[in-house]
Amino acid sequence: MKIIAIYSSKGGVGKTATAVNLAYSSSRSGRRTLLCDMDPQGAAGYYYRIRPKESFNRKQFLKGDLAPFIRGTDFENLDLLPTHFSFRNLDIALDGRGGATSEFKKIFACVKDEYDVLILDCPPNMTLLSENIIMAADLVVTPIIPTTLSILSFAQLIKLADKLEVNRKKLAAFFSMVDRRKNMHSDTIAKFGKKKIFLASEIPSLADVEKMGLYRQPVAVTAPTSAAAIAYEQLWLEVWRKGSQL
Ligand SMILES: Nc1ncnc2c1ncn2[C@@H]1O[C@H](COP(=O)(O)OP(=O)(O)OP(=O)(O)O)[C@@H](O)[C@H]1O
Ligand SMILES: [Mg+2]
Repeated sequence: MKIIAIYSSKGGVGKTATAVNLAYSSSRSGRRTLLCDMDPQGAAGYYYRIRPKESFNRKQFLKGDLAPFIRGTDFENLDLLPTHFSFRNLDIALDGRGGATSEFKKIFACVKDEYDVLILDCPPNMTLLSENIIMAADLVVTPIIPTTLSILSFAQLIKLADKLEVNRKKLAAFFSMVDRRKNMHSDTIAKFGKKKIFLASEIPSLADVEKMGLYRQPVAVTAPTSAAAIAYEQLWLEVWRKGSQL
């Protein structure tokens, strides 16, 4: 089972839109896919119209007791582990358990025989939770809006990965919500896009992605031939290629 984390310390950069659409592409490729909603905002579950079971909470999660709480989606090969309000204190709970960065690796090992791909929709922070996510993931995919501040957040991710002594090869960035009409976007992509760590795929800023909030479905379901659906499929193929080489 490959673990792919969609992570950034920055909020609102397109993590959830990416996790939701890549999970769909993964399932369509025939791989048994689990999307884990690690963000107590619950947006990934919202997009798939799935509410958590009342009995699920942070304690069950930390015990690795995931199977009873995993829900099927409307799509073949695609399941979802909903988040819970109590996940907002996951980092504090991890700290209380000794502050190890390897807890998530153990937790997700419980579902490794059931799935080929595990996609994590991560909350925007840089805490012990993020460290656990980076340690557990085979590939950390980070969306970057082509602006100076987003590039800064990426530099911070590299710093964190180095501190954790993880191979930089397992970090991948892509430009998200790109609007090529903006000089800052074009200039930033020209300046940083050739770095090895950047994927070639980018996700443009498109109304079809915003409308996912309305239709509550992956964009490839509501607009299968749209530029958005094609962009996410391209991104998935590139992410999978990179992930399977590691
Ligand atoms: N490619 C895109 N084009 C246009 N709008 C987008 C795109 N990607 C995301 N959005 C919109 O931007 C907002 C933030 O996106 P999203 O929720 O995916 O970001 P996030 O990084 O998960 O945010 P958070 O840090 O709060 O979890 C949403 O309203 C979403 O619909
Ligand atoms: Mg999100």
